[in-house]
Amino acid sequence: AADQVPVLTVDGPTASGKGTLASELARRLGFHLLDSGALYRATALAAQDAGVSLDDEAPLAELAGRLALRFEGQRVYLAGRDITDPLRLESTGGMASRVSVHPAVRQALHQLQLSFRRAPGLVADGRDMGTVVFPGASLKVFLTASVEQRAERRYKQLISKGVSANLPQIQSDLRLRDERDANRSVAPCRPAEDAMLLDNSAMSIEDSVVQCLDWWRQRRPF
Ligand code: DC
Repeated sequence: AADQVPVLTVDGPTASGKGTLASELARRLGFHLLDSGALYRATALAAQDAGVSLDDEAPLAELAGRLALRFEGQRVYLAGRDITDPLRLESTGGMASRVSVHPAVRQALHQLQLSFRRAPGLVADGRDMGTVVFPGASLKVFLTASVEQRAERRYKQLISKGVSANLPQIQSDLRLRDERDANRSVAPCRPAEDAMLLDNSAMSIEDSVVQCLDWWRQRRPF
């Protein structure tokens, strides 16, 4: 049964390196990957296409409930359209954060998230994977890099892609998003009581992966 399939959750704030860490863990463990932020991002893009306001809870939940999303390797399709690039835009992340404050939207995406739990295992990243969606996960990791560190990383990432970027602007955008994600009334971004805290500010990706794999091995057999 699906509830026997092991789950490892990685939660944390924007630009904490969750996505990179989670996909590397999934690859090494041979597990499925759920990028839950992508579901909120896709809902925001669907709303934009449909001309639905990001404040309009009922129609947003309706869109979220029938998202025609398809993940194919590294690409993501929404109703057959390749949305891989728009999905990753900073502006889309900001819209997703606004969409995600609505309880009905979160509810509408709940079942879809659970459906990613398939043998031999799942690595799920987001804000509430360990607290709400997979409270029984075998290992819960919560990343805690400082806003300065995260802004700096995001800045370098953008510059390396040839996108112009402004560090103070990135920092203030991150602060705003952290605030909204951590203080909303439903499923705020915070560590589960039994989460392992990982401050990866001064760690390489490889060091973070190794630390999580060590924790994972210590927990087995579940
Ligand atoms: O992780 P991300 O940047 O792709 O997430 C985009 C937004 O989606 C984030 O600012 C808040 C929301 N989100 C959420 O509320 N719960 C999740 N599990 C994942 C993302």
